[in-house]
Amino acid sequence: MEEKAYAKINLTLDILGKKPNGYHSLDTVMQSIDLFDSIEVKKAEAGDIKVRTNKNYLPLDRKNTVWRAAEFFFEAAGICGGAEISIEKTIPSRAGMGGGSADAAAVLRALNRLYEAGLSNQALMDIGERVGADVPFCIQGGTGRCTDIGQKVERLAPMPSCHLLICKPPMGMSTPKAFQILDKYPKSNMLHTEKMVAALALGKLEKVARQLGNRFEETLRMRQVREIKKLMLESGALNAMMTGSGSAVYGIYTEQRKAEECGSRLEALGEIFLSRPLNSIP
Ligand code: C5P
Repeated sequence: MEEKAYAKINLTLDILGKKPNGYHSLDTVMQSIDLFDSIEVKKAEAGDIKVRTNKNYLPLDRKNTVWRAAEFFFEAAGICGGAEISIEKTIPSRAGMGGGSADAAAVLRALNRLYEAGLSNQALMDIGERVGADVPFCIQGGTGRCTDIGQKVERLAPMPSCHLLICKPPMGMSTPKAFQILDKYPKSNMLHTEKMVAALALGKLEKVARQLGNRFEETLRMRQVREIKKLMLESGALNAMMTGSGSAVYGIYTEQRKAEECGSRLEALGEIFLSRPLNSIP
């Protein structure tokens, strides 16, 4: 069973506070994009979960999100099953593009079909929540407002069609580290999500681009991110922003040619991807 695991970008990311359990309350708009890892899932002996990938830095045990996704799936579905999972990674790691969450979501979708378990999307989202806060969004896909710790998803009007240039600088950022740094800053009153929701409802790309915002970008203040943004804005991007806890940056373009031209200029600063928003998981 083949399944594509689509990456996400954050159009906005507001941090509202810290909960007693150490997690943070968020209000964020996430957008699926047409950049994916390819996942293959096969049945295996009951109780057996095996993971293979084309990147040697990824763990192959419980620490891998897909391993836990499979374990929780069998438990929740009440199925005595096993899975052999191969992941061909394209989504960069430590980028803020939800690669691990996307892979877990794809494995849940694939197992549901492979074992004909008949679980609803909502049931898969509930299982996904146990793996990570971004997994429910990756199951739903499209454009969504994610609240609480990010696991509550509300569907939004789609992002207007455009071209996205993504640049991932060599340095990465781990999510827990990003939250630690953020905790040293006072709470911000500059919130972006509500205005983004209104801009999406209007369906105007220029308005959407104007409302991008990310509290992590403001607190992490990475030099590489600033350099990439500057080049994107100089090269005709409507706007540019870091995604999630970084370190990848995306620029929004109306013309593919401009995005490609800027991509070649940015090659020295990081890994380049050209993509488009995805309105739903195909
Ligand atoms: O849920 P996920 O595994 O993606 O989260 C990774 C880490 O990010 C958590 O262990 C936690 O430290 C931090 N986190 C947080 N608040 C959130 C989501 C994640 O502090 N809303």
